[in-house]
Amino acid sequence: MGNNFKKIANEELQPDNFSFSNENLLKAKDIVKMYPKNYRESSIMPLLSMAQSQNDGWLPKKAIEYVSKFLNVPEMKVLEIATFYSMYNLSPVGKHHIEICTTSPCMLRGSDNLLEKLKNWIGINTGEITDDNKFSLNRVECLGACVNAPVVKINENYYEDLDLQSFEELINKLSNNKNVKMGPQSSRKGSEPKK
Ligand code: FES
Repeated sequence: MGNNFKKIANEELQPDNFSFSNENLLKAKDIVKMYPKNYRESSIMPLLSMAQSQNDGWLPKKAIEYVSKFLNVPEMKVLEIATFYSMYNLSPVGKHHIEICTTSPCMLRGSDNLLEKLKNWIGINTGEITDDNKFSLNRVECLGACVNAPVVKINENYYEDLDLQSFEELINKLSNNKNVKMGPQSSRKGSEPKK
């Protein structure tokens, strides 16, 4: 077990350069404008998230450097954030990066069982990537959607109200490149009471 995605990737995996796409550059400029000029650090998190999405789900060293220069803040401040929060990956992840919440509310609703079964279905442990690069797996603390426990985040989307059957269906669909429904996998909408 462990989270290998927080280890800075080896040199051979690090790209030579990183810069925002034109579209992300415009978005980044808008994000910076949302905060007072003397709080430029406030933009670090949304910019890191954007950089990560642009780079197939992980942050290379060049992206940390780029965000630091873009905001004119010390690189250490950006690195501190990138290494602290579980949602940032510092080494490559699979096409579908699965983050399964096992904090108390999700645990009480069966997340440990989901995790154990998932390891068998995709054949990897936490901190690992499948050989075909399709899935990577991480165990995380509360994803902030306990009202729909148990919750799993895959890339940027949440899948909620899972049970063994709906979770297996979800993983099978992703494995076969089929469309999946985000949010609750039960009959309820959002967090409305169960009928
Ligand atoms: S405990 Fe799992 S989302 Fe909060």
